[in-house]
Amino acid sequence: MRRPIIAGNWKMNNTAKEGAALIEAIKPLVADANCDVVVCVPAIDIPAAAEALKGSNIALGAQNVHFAPKGAYTGEISADMLKEYGVEYVIIGHSERRQYFGETDETVNKRTLAALSAGLTPIVCIGETLEEREGGKTEQVLDRQIEEGMKGIDDISKIVIAYEPVWAIGTGRTATAEQANETIGYIRKKVASVFCPKCAEKVRIQYGGSMNAGNAASLMAMPEIDGGLIGGASLKAPDFAAIVHFDREGK
Ligand code: 13P
Repeated sequence: MRRPIIAGNWKMNNTAKEGAALIEAIKPLVADANCDVVVCVPAIDIPAAAEALKGSNIALGAQNVHFAPKGAYTGEISADMLKEYGVEYVIIGHSERRQYFGETDETVNKRTLAALSAGLTPIVCIGETLEEREGGKTEQVLDRQIEEGMKGIDDISKIVIAYEPVWAIGTGRTATAEQANETIGYIRKKVASVFCPKCAEKVRIQYGGSMNAGNAASLMAMPEIDGGLIGGASLKAPDFAAIVHFDREGK
């Protein structure tokens, strides 16, 4: 019922030229995908990426958006600026932005509401640190991130949630498929209680954190996991394509 969504988060990798070349390499490999495919590129790569993606089945995503429509916010980018280039998705509240750039649940909430009202689909990232998991605080952290970060959203099924345990990002230490499924199941229950049970059934929840060609099929086989947000493995066309083809392992 929920269409799977595999999104690459390039983070701060690839110049515009390198990014366009990567897109050209990915396009033919995923043309027959059975899921939504997205690449979230650095802001300055967007024009070249938009050009390279023309006519393909891959959607364009950004990695952040400001909450104001315009104004004195040096260095920031508005939803309209993204939309002019055909951007459809935007990552909001990635743990790297929370950790290094002062992103809070409050700013995540403002950015998410602005993205939605501009017609962009936010990919809202949540997840606990290793310390929080080991301290038994995972559910408490997720509760707060959902209650505060997603406050005031009219239709929660219009966003994509990315569950990214911080301890699994870029570490090679993937959550087991069971761990990811259990936590995403918890997130869905929480969304049902804060918003509505029907919307919780509709909202797509991705897993992110060291997802790769080798573990994508087992993660995606889990009933609660609707997709992946892929960092490192999205930078190589064959690896990203293999994840997009999670449903065809061994074929
Ligand atoms: P890695 O796939 O490199 O662990 O990164 C995950 C991530 O942060 C995607 O947003």
